[in-house]
Amino acid sequence: MKVLYSSSDFNSWRKTISPSSSVGFVPTMGALHEGHLSLVKASLKNADITIVSIFVNPKQFSAGEDFDTYPRDLEDDLNKLKQYNVDVVFVPGVDDIFGDPGGAIGFNHTFSKTLEGGSRPHFFPGVLSGVSILFNIVRPDFAHFGRKDAQQLILIEKMVSDLGSPITIIPGDTVRELGGLAMSSRNEYLTDKQKGSAKILFRSLKFAKKLLDEGGVDSIVIKREIKNILCLEKNIKIDYISIVHLDSLLEVSRDIRGPVLVSIALFIGSVRLIDNIFY
Ligand code: PAJ
Repeated sequence: MKVLYSSSDFNSWRKTISPSSSVGFVPTMGALHEGHLSLVKASLKNADITIVSIFVNPKQFSAGEDFDTYPRDLEDDLNKLKQYNVDVVFVPGVDDIFGDPGGAIGFNHTFSKTLEGGSRPHFFPGVLSGVSILFNIVRPDFAHFGRKDAQQLILIEKMVSDLGSPITIIPGDTVRELGGLAMSSRNEYLTDKQKGSAKILFRSLKFAKKLLDEGGVDSIVIKREIKNILCLEKNIKIDYISIVHLDSLLEVSRDIRGPVLVSIALFIGSVRLIDNIFY
């Protein structure tokens, strides 16, 4: 397993790949867990060569968010990746990716304004500029993204399609802890007690799925039921509970028709967690 720390080293290595080899790519911010590793395993199965990047992208954090404290443990990440047949781990510096801090790339699609984009307006322009630069350096045939970050996945698919890029995006299902909590690097911030409380997030989504399965309920009722369940945990502060149409990412006004995304963002203490179900 090669570890490359600059885009120039990466470019030199990239030239040695046979054009007939397919390249799979898994971009991450490190602090790797089974969720990340499920994407790595999917890539190893699917492509001849697998590249994982570890880059904590400063542009997707606003002032006051957790960029400085974001969990970083490169040695541990590399040890985890060594257990698989990952070909290259790309660990660029900030200057490698954002040589010009202003940058000329702007991503301003309406899909980036709702849900996470509503609460964190800087987030998707930051993610999409970082990922598009990584895509240009890595030039993968396939790139793997988790459904855990549903809106990110949808926006990346849209970006690739708008750019006429030949990259195929492969979604991966959300990997969860035993009690249902979606794995996340940010779970490291939670105390055991908070982790216990956080289980209610998936419990409320499962209840929403049950209501959807039964049919005949509208989005307002489902959101109210989710809220009632979340309110059972006193140390939770809800950021949003949302049901959007998958084709517009706009809120379902009442009747649920066609595919929707049910998503929740909440705070436990100062830790922000998100989860969702596609339906
Ligand atoms: P990060 O949070 O490290 O996640 C990297 C990838 O792992 C993303 O595609 C994310 O959706 C996926 N992932 C995270 N938790 C998961 C889980 N429990 N199950 C399945 N997949 C999971 O998302 C980012 O980094 C960044 O925004 C990035 C795309 C790397 C751009 O900077």
